[in-house]
Amino acid sequence: MPILFDDKTRTFTLHTAKTTYQMTADEHDRLLHLYYGPSMNGNAECVLTHFDRGFSGNPGDIGEKRGYSLDVLPQEYPVSGSGDYRSPALVIRSASGIYGCDLKYREYEILPGKYSLPGLPAVYAAEEEAQTLKIVLRDENAGVEAVLYYGVLVQEDVITRAAQIRCIGGEKIILLKAAAANLDMITGNFDLITFNGRHEMERKPERQHVEHKEYRVGSRRGSSSHQYNPLMILTGRKTTETSGICYAMEFVYSGGFQGSVEKDQFNLTRMQMGLAETCFSYPVNPGETFTVPEVIMTCSDEGLRTLSWNLQNTIRDHVIRGTWKRRVCPVLLNSWEACFMDFDGRKIRELADEAKSLGMDMLVLDDGWFGTRDDDNQALGDWYANETKLGGSIRSLGQDIHDKGLLFGIWVEPEMVNENSQLYRNHPDWALRIPGREPVRARNQLVLDFSREEVRDAVYAQISKVLEESRADYLKWDYNRNIVDIYSAGETDQGRVLYDNMLGVYAFLERLRQDFPNLLIEGCSGGGGRFDAGMLYYCPQIWCSDNSDAIDRLRIQYGTSFGYPAETMGAHVSAVPNGGTGRMTSLQTRAYVAMSGTFGYELDPSKLTEIEKTEIRKEIAERNELAAFMIQADYVRLTDPFRDPVTAWGFVSKDRREGVFFAVATEIHGNMPVNYIRFEELMKNRQYVNEEDGKTYSSEVLRTIGLPLPRERGEYHSCRWHFVLDEKEVLS
Ligand code: GLA
Repeated sequence: MPILFDDKTRTFTLHTAKTTYQMTADEHDRLLHLYYGPSMNGNAECVLTHFDRGFSGNPGDIGEKRGYSLDVLPQEYPVSGSGDYRSPALVIRSASGIYGCDLKYREYEILPGKYSLPGLPAVYAAEEEAQTLKIVLRDENAGVEAVLYYGVLVQEDVITRAAQIRCIGGEKIILLKAAAANLDMITGNFDLITFNGRHEMERKPERQHVEHKEYRVGSRRGSSSHQYNPLMILTGRKTTETSGICYAMEFVYSGGFQGSVEKDQFNLTRMQMGLAETCFSYPVNPGETFTVPEVIMTCSDEGLRTLSWNLQNTIRDHVIRGTWKRRVCPVLLNSWEACFMDFDGRKIRELADEAKSLGMDMLVLDDGWFGTRDDDNQALGDWYANETKLGGSIRSLGQDIHDKGLLFGIWVEPEMVNENSQLYRNHPDWALRIPGREPVRARNQLVLDFSREEVRDAVYAQISKVLEESRADYLKWDYNRNIVDIYSAGETDQGRVLYDNMLGVYAFLERLRQDFPNLLIEGCSGGGGRFDAGMLYYCPQIWCSDNSDAIDRLRIQYGTSFGYPAETMGAHVSAVPNGGTGRMTSLQTRAYVAMSGTFGYELDPSKLTEIEKTEIRKEIAERNELAAFMIQADYVRLTDPFRDPVTAWGFVSKDRREGVFFAVATEIHGNMPVNYIRFEELMKNRQYVNEEDGKTYSSEVLRTIGLPLPRERGEYHSCRWHFVLDEKEVLS
């Protein structure tokens, strides 16, 4: 049984395959955290100390015990107002203006399977794969109850956390801060890895030593953001890819978030993840419940590689749903970098012909097909085809593409509106904007108020009609600005808007999934501005970055891999010199980088030479041969593209009989030392055949010394190895 409760000590112990999590409801009914780490049997209560600490107050109900303070004890769900001055997981205010509460343990329940959350994305699992622990904490005087949820996924070494906050008193409470997970570690000297970036350069891992202060990342943008990803990793000081302790928190939410790590005065380290505080003040009326979105937690003492596998496997099998789960996606040609908005129906049909002749599976019509959309200042909100531009209806275009033996995909940006659009002219109050004030524009567009059902319904009616008429197989769901003006004409309390808007987006996406179960939805937000586990619940892949430069992509995809599977990363081969960076790279290098993600092309094939076309056909065929293997495999980071002169990565089968590895030289100098790539994940003491050169290699050599990267002239050359266990050798 993964979840155990010891009646005598009131201790909860949660076991996954390789980790244990423990907490206790103490004699004062406070829920204290005891242990999270490698599997442990026994009770860790001995870690608690009770010293009299100056300036750390003692709860009123404990009598004269000056050695008991919530300011120093490790807690499961710390709240402000209880005497704990560290970062609270929950801050509330009563309608009459009183801050804080003091939650006490009341009851628990153990349930089979994994809990789900109303209106929110969450990890799911079959009954036999998971167990749920529900712990109820209550403060009758403040009229608040917190229900803590723990979902234990044994095989994945994952514990999910979520919380529901209930108003049980006679007057409403206002939530000012709500985290889903809090982790207090009494001892340990840690590094913190966060993932920062910007548009076109997302998710750079940054590692720093945790000192005595609070470290915070987050987004106040109403979306998870390019700037910080809702993923945090806490590691031991010596933890590497393959050894050492590490912990991750990954938020299953696509709106604003806040993650923090704080080392306190007595060296306890507190890690937290939850909703952004800014512009959040959520009223919960008597009898109502507010749900804090979920956090995926995992721990490994085998280094960052295993930690990433835990997260990646959870997303692959317990977040992504439906037809496209664990399925190889079609190779597409996207019209955006091929011709931007400068196209007509003939050009799109020509692109489709080229795509077909190159061996691709799908043509995606990107931005520019609807309303008066000939530039990006207008027409968002008018989701009907520009028939003059397309030379006919969307139905006939979809039909023509299908008749060519291709799938058809289309781009939309449902949450947005241009002021220059029919939709806005008819319903100016449907946009989030503050009455009487000029709105803050970005890309000359405003954000629609998806907290309102009528707004969602109107957009849904338009988009579903397009999908039905064109019989689209794929939808690229874009989101190209962040929220500034928080005012919904449909809400009475603006402190609710950001959260309700996000739930509205999820409701729209869920409806789409129900009505079009086979539709492949690719998430996008100017590339990777909303790359998070929340979106992956609805969209099995996300355009990883608007930066399609293969060398920059090495870094972006490397950073993304810490929390997300390779096949969720939208990646395309684009033209050179690259439109964003001007960099030249070979078709092979571009293909290797893109085939490590979803794989597709985003260029105009009519500008290619015959030699290039032949190469592309070959690369598509190779990718198709490898893809089914890669989506089942474990992803390995072999080098660090921010430090090493070569970026190398690969995919190894679970049984380690097969491995496909790639490398790109990112630094070239005169008379260079030789770069060796080591393939540590292969089995020990065996022989492998490299399908690329037909030669046999000792796995000890491959694992310990590695193979030299061929010496080639010119920048950014790439190499691939495909090792298959030599079965003959096993028999002999
Ligand atoms: C965003 C996307 C691009 C493209 C454009 C279209 O920037 O990330 O891929 O779809 O919008 O306007």
